[in-house]
Amino acid sequence: MSPAHGFRGRHVVSAEDFSKDELLHLLDTAAFFEHDVGPRLAGKILATLFFEPSTRTRLSFESAMHRLGGSVIGFADEKATSRTKGESLADTIRMVEGYCDAIVIRHPMEGAARLAAETARVPVINGGDGSNQHPTQTFLDLYTIRKATGRLDGLRVGFFGDLRYSRTVHSLAKALLHFDVAMSFIGPPMLRLPQELRETLGARGRLGREVEGLDDARPLDVLYVTRIQKERFPDPADYERMKNAYRLDRAAAERFGPDLKILHPLPRVTEVATDVDDLPGALYFEQARNGVTVRKALLSLVLADADASGGGLA
Ligand code: NCD
Repeated sequence: MSPAHGFRGRHVVSAEDFSKDELLHLLDTAAFFEHDVGPRLAGKILATLFFEPSTRTRLSFESAMHRLGGSVIGFADEKATSRTKGESLADTIRMVEGYCDAIVIRHPMEGAARLAAETARVPVINGGDGSNQHPTQTFLDLYTIRKATGRLDGLRVGFFGDLRYSRTVHSLAKALLHFDVAMSFIGPPMLRLPQELRETLGARGRLGREVEGLDDARPLDVLYVTRIQKERFPDPADYERMKNAYRLDRAAAERFGPDLKILHPLPRVTEVATDVDDLPGALYFEQARNGVTVRKALLSLVLADADASGGGLA
């Protein structure tokens, strides 16, 4: 295995920690993992520590681990843990690392996964830290886009919705810096990208257009929609004001033409009308399914023998 593809034993904290080569290697490995690859993680244990609600991320990690012959321990509700007795995150990690071969953590605090990685002697995978990052969602987003369009370079990608608090947007926008993608950002001004990310993108000449309405965003190849991140609003009154501020309906989607690919990390609330679902470009449920394939590939690369097993994985 080339050192450029050093996934083995590595923490997965932020999408920006991965080079273009590494991202492509992961996507190629995932494509290979669409086939049954056997129980290559037999005997390995994954711990899933979810301090915040999750459906897809936790279940798809669990499914991936089981499909690879490994097992899973963990919790989906911190109320059932010693956190309620006042245990620190660092102490929880120091203990859990003795029970498993890798940890997936989701936590409301930005930087929690980085902190866990600094403490842990086993690889830590960030399943979402506050509104900061969600790198494994980014990996499956890239996989879905590439599978649907055949490429990552030369695309026009529009992000639509809560750009301020959506960690999936922040992660994906950073990863897309590796590719020749024209990014635009669509939504109410109050929910626009955080200033720090605007500056990062701006410094690379990649901030693109920031517009309020979908009709100002055409043409696009990919529209990436997110729900309002209700739980991140410091002031509930602001959430109440914004909660119906944007929506993709079928007519608006159709104005982009038949080739538009629509992605959404899910869960959906009201921001995508359900009659969008049967447009051929509505990929969000397929995107969620791809989560298992991509997480199988990631777990194998981080934990096991994917580097030693041949089959196009080296
Ligand atoms: C996302 C998340 O948790 O950030 N969900 C997911 O993992 N698919 C998006 C969201 O909660 O809106």
